[in-house]
Amino acid sequence: MRILGIETSCDETAAAVVENGRNVCSSVVSSQVDLHARYGGVVPEIASRAHVELVNDVIAEALVEAGTTLHDVDAVAATHGPGLAGALLVGVSAAKAIALAIRCPYVGVNHHEAHMYAALVDDPGLEPPFVTLIVSGGHTLLIAMDDHGRYRVLGRTVDDAAGEAFDKVARFLGLGYPGGPAIDRLSSQGDPAAIAFPRPMLGDGHDFSFSGLKTAVVLYVRKHPDVDVADVAASFQAAVVDVLVAKLLGVVEEERARDPRMTTVVIGGGVAANSALRARLRDENARGDLRVVLPSIGLCTDNAAMVASAAWWRLAADGPTSLASGAYPALRIG
Ligand code: KG4
Ligand code: ZN
Repeated sequence: MRILGIETSCDETAAAVVENGRNVCSSVVSSQVDLHARYGGVVPEIASRAHVELVNDVIAEALVEAGTTLHDVDAVAATHGPGLAGALLVGVSAAKAIALAIRCPYVGVNHHEAHMYAALVDDPGLEPPFVTLIVSGGHTLLIAMDDHGRYRVLGRTVDDAAGEAFDKVARFLGLGYPGGPAIDRLSSQGDPAAIAFPRPMLGDGHDFSFSGLKTAVVLYVRKHPDVDVADVAASFQAAVVDVLVAKLLGVVEEERARDPRMTTVVIGGGVAANSALRARLRDENARGDLRVVLPSIGLCTDNAAMVASAAWWRLAADGPTSLASGAYPALRIG
């Protein structure tokens, strides 16, 4: 079964064709980063308008790259939440229109669920149960995936998301947008132990808080205007990574006590592209008692292959989504 997936929840217009949930025939991502960079963040109205302009071409390119046409597509899926309302509506409307025109099922996909399926696309042997850390511009979530479609949210941020903290600190340091990749690059020239920034909520449950860490960076730089910016970037990044890894390992330990099969960890979302986080998790994997799945960078950041993959499992479990359904900006999981 071939599914055309569409992703427009934030500032990436993406389309992909995936066969049987795992075989990616094509994956096209058109980034709007240049349109939003001058504003230092995603401007929802600009994002919606850009999606409208791009979506047909991106879908056409995904079909050509897959060597197929709409008539050979068996179902059409789109991210229907969470995300920016106007942006989501573009993908949802496009998917429903195509489904109606070619008389095939439409599947609305949860963006968080899609980020988890990115790992299944990358690693054909991977099956639940596993623990996922989703770290993006809008979310920081620890989720147990007990089975396909069965999730338990174990921890979430109480304020800023991890990616949001990267973006805000980068903006304060004058590193441009998006901030995550900029801090990641600059950190390689800095000392992660130079400044002892706080590790918020470490040892305090499974929830995260990054707003105070961002403030700590601002206060430190104002007090030490001559500080090496690379040291600030590296020390901030080290604090975020320490918290993410400690919380992830804490959850795995608890889950393992409940179910000995919980030995696999999966990461997803844009911050999962972070080199320091990936290096730390590679070390954990090398220790031997934990299997860490690190999807390729292109599958960590927003893409439509993960949407088409999640849709395949959802369609098999629940059947098509009604064409009367809409976009759900605050959609939750679990
Ligand atoms: O998942 P994603 O592509 O879009 C959302 O659903 O939000 O994540 C985007 C976020 C941004 O905050 C960006 O700064 C961050 O992921 N990001 C990174 C890196 N690459 C992207 N953060 C840290 N290090 C990176 N290498
Ligand atoms: Zn995302």
